[in-house]
Parts: sequence; structure tokens; C-alpha cells
Amino acid sequence: MPQPYSILFICLGNICRSPLAEGVMRAVVQERFPQREFLIDSAGTNGYHTGEAPDERSVAVAKQNGIDISKQRCRQLSDEDFSRFDLILGMDQNNLMTINRLAPCGSPAVTGLFTAVARDGLDGHAADRGEEIPDPYYGDIEDFERVYEMVREAAEALADRLQ
Ligand code: 4NP
Repeated sequence: MPQPYSILFICLGNICRSPLAEGVMRAVVQERFPQREFLIDSAGTNGYHTGEAPDERSVAVAKQNGIDISKQRCRQLSDEDFSRFDLILGMDQNNLMTINRLAPCGSPAVTGLFTAVARDGLDGHAADRGEEIPDPYYGDIEDFERVYEMVREAAEALADRLQ
């Protein structure tokens, strides 16, 4: 797997899952690779919540785990992201389909499902097959806690690949 220095996390709304992924991944690389520079960001495939802070349940779950995501602001995935980021990772298959549909022709960015790339890397052929991180928007706080656990596990596994 080529070493990605810039990673963009994508979900539908950019208020629940991908802000958590951004915050957790940033914390993980800061702890593991304090000398190295990474660009870590998140965006949504839709723009319904553009400019908003993350969902208060994501903010609360992150805070319980010592991570502040309250200053993040929602934005929509854009064309330029495909040239700014080495790796663009969707939380579920719908996100990944949209990412791949929007990718400009010849885009150098590598795309995949977050859990699959974390588990298998990009050398295998399974970057699209893996567990989806389910949308917790209409769920309750336990659903957000479950998202946090999945994101944490995937972020740690992805960081193992950045050694
Ligand atoms: P996310 O969750 O994709 O994890 O940010 C959602 C947030 C908002 C909506 C859908 C999913 N929405 O339809 O407004």
C-alpha cells in the first residue's frame, strides 16, 4: 500500500460518522507518529448540513473518549478532493458508490471502504468488501457508541498500515 499522507473520510451527511472518523484518525496518528505530517479531513456526499457542527451525539461520544470534534464544520465532497487526497474512504457501500461515481476521470486518489482498506490494505482486491459502518442518524446513543468502536478499530488498523 502506498503511504497515504492525506486521508479523507466520507459519509452521507458529514455530521455523524465521518466527523468521528476524522477526529479519531487524527488522534491515532498524533499518538503513533508524532513526527509525521498528515492531512486528515472529512466530507459528506450530500450538502444538506453544510456549515453545521457535527451531530451532538457524535460530539458527546468523541468527548467521552477524550477527543474534541466540536469545531469541525460540515462540507460536501468536491472535485478538488480527488486531487488533494491520497485516500478517500467511505463508511458504507452507498458512500463508496457515490465517491466512485463523482471521481473525475484519471483521478489519482485511491478510494475504498474504510473497514476493508483498514483490514486488507490496498494490495488485495477487497478494498470494497468489508463491514459497513451503519448510519446512526435515526438511532440512539448506543448506535453512536457502536460507530465509535468500529471507527476506532478501523483507525488503529489503518494506522498499522502506515508504519
Ligand atoms: P452521517 O449520518 O452520514 O453519518 O453524517 C447522516 C446524517 C444526516 C442525514 C443522513 C445521515 N440526513 O439525512 O440528514
